[in-house]
Amino acid sequence: MTARRILSGMRSTNPRLHIGNYEGALRNWVELQNEGYEMFCMVADYHALTTMYEDAKEIAKNNLEVAKDFVAGGIDPEKAAIFIQSHVPEHAELHLLFSMITPLGWLERVPTYKEKQDDMGTAEREPYGLLGYPVLQTADILLYKPYGVPVGRDQAPHLEIGNDIGQRFNRLYGQDVFPVFKYMIPQDENRAKLPGLDMRKMSKSYDNCIYLSDTEDETAKKIKSAYTTPSKIKMTDPGIPEGCAVCQYLKLYSPNWEAQWQEDRDGLRGCSANKKECTEAVNEYLRPIRQRRAELDDATITEILRDGAERARAVASATLAEVKAAMGWN
Ligand code: TYM
Repeated sequence: MTARRILSGMRSTNPRLHIGNYEGALRNWVELQNEGYEMFCMVADYHALTTMYEDAKEIAKNNLEVAKDFVAGGIDPEKAAIFIQSHVPEHAELHLLFSMITPLGWLERVPTYKEKQDDMGTAEREPYGLLGYPVLQTADILLYKPYGVPVGRDQAPHLEIGNDIGQRFNRLYGQDVFPVFKYMIPQDENRAKLPGLDMRKMSKSYDNCIYLSDTEDETAKKIKSAYTTPSKIKMTDPGIPEGCAVCQYLKLYSPNWEAQWQEDRDGLRGCSANKKECTEAVNEYLRPIRQRRAELDDATITEILRDGAERARAVASATLAEVKAAMGWN
């Protein structure tokens, strides 16, 4: 294990990250960076391909936009290596090697596999790569031998398999190539799995997201239609903040959330006041992120990604050489 190294990634299925991606992962990446960890921040374009193989061109465009959100969210390209997965071919090669030593049963049992399978519709549409998704993710992680991997709760099953594959490799080839890494999931359950505007998990596929790069007006419109306590019709009806999307965002972004929750519970405030104050708090929190994003152009981000891939490759190629040596293939 490299004591102070961190790796994590996000798929480029969408050009924009939402505040769930931010709360579950990116916000922790920035904190870890500021604590002095050596960061590897990856745009997972191969993983995007597992469900979007018909839109490969789209993914290539999204890659730049996702990287912009990393920087806008606070990742400093001077400190962190920001790179695109497919620019570091060692990911593909280690994925292949790991695919030979990973028992099929481990993959078939992964809950996210079942969910994604359902999303794909027919078995004919479902690619071989979808089953191997956690194997590729393991290669992403173990190439960097990180201390930890900061992600949202939904990634936990992939991380477990990651350590299992790493330890299986060590056992098979009799060498301690891969240390066990830590799962860094936010303690606060709402951040680990941020609810969307409809109180289901925030996810692009549910169309219930606030995006980092939404305008202030778009944000206001979305919060206006967000899910609140269904039995709270009049202001004086008691609210249940734990089950209300607006109250969840107040808790994260409003300094007065405790008073706001209490008044909501006591029937001293209505949902429209909550929504208005929530919109202000969210927009204020996101303002510096949005400003930074507006200043980023394609040429700058392309250069950042080129440099990031070079830094990532230096580490990844050294690990791959160790892997082959352990297998006696050097
Ligand atoms: P992805 O692209 O689905 O999500 C990126 C990150 O955002 C987190 N996240 C959330 N956290 C809290 N609440 C939500 N509503 C929410 N929605 C998403 C995810 O947990 C994730 O941390 N397989 C990964 C990408 C990946 C990766 C890796 C991650 C590829 N290789 C290596 C870590 C290490 C994924 O699909 O994340």
